[in-house]
Amino acid sequence: MMGVAVNGADMEWRERGTGDAILFIHGFPFNSAMWGAQLATLPPGWRGIAPDLRGFGASERGDRDILDMPRFADDLIAFLDQLDIDRTVVCGLSMGGYVAFEMWRHHPDRIRGLVLCDTRAGTDSPEAQRGRRQLAEKVLADGQQVLIEGMLPKLLAPMTRKRRKDIVSFVAAMMAETSRDTIARALIGMAIRPDSEPVLRSIDVPVLIMVGEEDIITNRGHAEMMARGIRGARLESIPAAGHLPNLEQPEDFNHALNQFLAGLPRATLSTRAVLPV
Ligand code: MLT
Repeated sequence: MMGVAVNGADMEWRERGTGDAILFIHGFPFNSAMWGAQLATLPPGWRGIAPDLRGFGASERGDRDILDMPRFADDLIAFLDQLDIDRTVVCGLSMGGYVAFEMWRHHPDRIRGLVLCDTRAGTDSPEAQRGRRQLAEKVLADGQQVLIEGMLPKLLAPMTRKRRKDIVSFVAAMMAETSRDTIARALIGMAIRPDSEPVLRSIDVPVLIMVGEEDIITNRGHAEMMARGIRGARLESIPAAGHLPNLEQPEDFNHALNQFLAGLPRATLSTRAVLPV
């Protein structure tokens, strides 16, 4: 992994390939390791960049109070500045999608395409907000296990849980690696996230929406709602996958992602194309 100082804390990231950038934003409470199968199979001419958000994976938390969506989005813009990347495709899953919306809200000029996976544009209900606050307190008092036990059964499709113990342990390990402090702060950050429904109609770059057909955390209804709101958005359901289709069905997920990337105009021209030889 590589690291760079971003807004006062070290941010670590993994990357593969060279060319046009695609920024992968992980969900909660995971880290950039969840994008391994995507980084490994990007088409030629693409540079995949997957950072660990502040406090997650190998990135430092720094001394910021709440880990909210504007904070994560700000960090990612500063991170793109550090890497000298002007415009990028942004691919966010679940909480990563909330962060992608936040990036779009404040810095649409930095985004040339969006891939919104197993996420939603709306806010939490008051009841869901209360649940997140209670969970944050429980995790702080009793540790990550409370969250893992409550969330793991909902994350993966039944077949994945039954047949793919490797995926189950990989996901549980990512969750266990996340500190209780980061979990609590990000839970509060998600509870207070702004409503992105009004933002949908302003999105004027190509958009791919993906959802695991068996996702019960962010379901097809949420995906369809986003697809209705964003002009020209394409919606792909991934069969036999729950909330983490990129891990559960990487071939189908990558096929849809790579087809979407192939349809975008190239941002980086090769030196040959611009310089006479
Ligand atoms: C995620 O996968 O990022 C979370 O399920 C998002 C959420 O809890 O809203």
